[in-house]
Amino acid sequence: MNNRTLIILKPDSVKKNVIGEILSRFEKENFRIAALKMLSGSKELFEKFYEIHKDRPFFSELVTWMSSYPVVAAILEGEDAINRVRQIVGATDPNEAAPGTIRKIYGTSKGENAIHASDSWESYLKESAILFPEGVCFAG
Ligand code: RTP
Ligand code: MG
Repeated sequence: MNNRTLIILKPDSVKKNVIGEILSRFEKENFRIAALKMLSGSKELFEKFYEIHKDRPFFSELVTWMSSYPVVAAILEGEDAINRVRQIVGATDPNEAAPGTIRKIYGTSKGENAIHASDSWESYLKESAILFPEGVCFAG
């Protein structure tokens, strides 16, 4: 499956007041917002979310930052969602991201890069279970 993905608008995007702009970009790119919430996640929640990076040098800083301010999580539905959304999001480091990508437009640094997007269907399943534990009712 590849018709859904999960994004998080990170603290820098929420602070910059561009939640609507970024969500609108995905709607214009023909994605449907299937689930949406603003949340203040705990350190424990983001430790679980970013578990794959637990041995990386940036792990502690990342988890502290993501839990320091509200974020917006969404599930997007659309054809080839995982790959298409990663393309629209751009490279991890905004300085290396292609023109027009969300990270190029809104990102600040490799750490503060505006948005997260699932990198595989397996990641999407894990991430959506963490951020939408109550479950999601898809219109289908
Ligand atoms: P994401 O998971 O957030 O969509 O980003 P990504 O796949 O492009 O990057 P990944 O390697 O999975 O890293 C996860 C997040 O950790 C922060 N990071 N900081 N300071 C650094 O060197 C560094 N490297 C990664 C970023 O916020 C990155 O999105
Ligand atoms: Mg990643």
